[in-house]
Amino acid sequence: MTIKKLLASAALTALTAGAAHAEDVEVLHWWTSGGEAAALNVLKDDLAGQGIGWIDMPVAGGGGEAAMTTLRARVTAGDAPTAVQMLGFDIKDWAGEGVLGNLDDVASSEGWDAVVPEALQFFSKHDGHWIAAPVNVHSTNWVWINKAALDATGLAEPTSWDELIAVLDAMEANGITPLAHGGQAWQDATILDAVVLSLGDDFYKAAMIDLDPDALSGEQMVEAFNRMEKLRGYVDDNFSGRDWNLASSMVINGEAGMQMMGDWAKGEFLRADQTPGEDFVCIRFPGTQGAVTFNSDQFVMFEVEEGAEAQKAMAASVMNPTFQSAFNVVKGSVPARTDVPNDDFDDCGKKGMADLADAGSNGRLFGSMAHGHSVPAAVKNAMYDVVTAHFNGEYDAETAAEEMLNAVESAQ
Ligand code: GAL
Repeated sequence: MTIKKLLASAALTALTAGAAHAEDVEVLHWWTSGGEAAALNVLKDDLAGQGIGWIDMPVAGGGGEAAMTTLRARVTAGDAPTAVQMLGFDIKDWAGEGVLGNLDDVASSEGWDAVVPEALQFFSKHDGHWIAAPVNVHSTNWVWINKAALDATGLAEPTSWDELIAVLDAMEANGITPLAHGGQAWQDATILDAVVLSLGDDFYKAAMIDLDPDALSGEQMVEAFNRMEKLRGYVDDNFSGRDWNLASSMVINGEAGMQMMGDWAKGEFLRADQTPGEDFVCIRFPGTQGAVTFNSDQFVMFEVEEGAEAQKAMAASVMNPTFQSAFNVVKGSVPARTDVPNDDFDDCGKKGMADLADAGSNGRLFGSMAHGHSVPAAVKNAMYDVVTAHFNGEYDAETAAEEMLNAVESAQ
């Protein structure tokens, strides 16, 4: 039975078996950390104000791998959620299966085409139809540094690889964990995104977007893995399996000096009542200022008989300019719309919005591989395996570069 028929039979079942309240939306997502939950509450409250009830379907696991596995099981069982948090190429994959709802009428009445950047529309549309509502733009080439720990080194915010190593060495000499990290594939890959980008836009595009064999296995990729190995030397012994927000906490409390992570990390600093420039500093991964690797959280709506109106109301809420500001101020991301003022954003948020606009206009905006915006999931997961094997010492840099090409070729 095709997925479409499964969904139709599920809808019929729901109708006959007494569906939930017509205005309810069941939302599958992976926003389970403190900062993420605080941002999600902004959406829940917004919908509640419209009489739309929220049935929560959280699937813990940063980066969304577990959530996507759960989603596949739900849809295969003919029980798709009303709305799903989804990233980049996962949206394109699901759209290709013809099971996502059409949001064109909301998009045209709300004028989405004029305010959503092309880089996002590439993922929000399928065959020219809107099938997803983007709630934000995150970017991944950030470093979050404990301000007191940086000051204690006597060094400035690093802007190059050598300066970064000098700061990490000084933090180590000061007796703290220089680099807070969670040993999970998507987190290792998030750092690789930034390391590859710091070796040049052309290299990032060739390796992570065009999957050029020479870029994947050549000298620059060897250098990228040498740098990953160097960074591995600055994490603590208990990094394996650590959730990303626990690594953020290590920087927040001064146990560690910095974390290389997307700007959802800022949501954790804000939850701890920390202020940019006073308690922590946000910088672009050294060598990447001016460029941005992005990922956008979008809500896709599966085709359902019951709840289509609530889906459209949710899509309209997600894209409402006032909501876009209120949500992203808390989430650490920046608005998906270009017409939202930055008045309510802190200095890191304002920097994020300015960097995104600059990168977009200068051709330096690239989809994040680690967060599903540069290649399809099969290729991304193949890269994950190589990055993690290397980070855990199974490969040296030369072998990792060879395996990168082998893994990508076998996944394509
Ligand atoms: C990203 C997602 C963010 C945040 C992060 C950590 O993929 O876009 O919203 O959830 O994972 O889980």
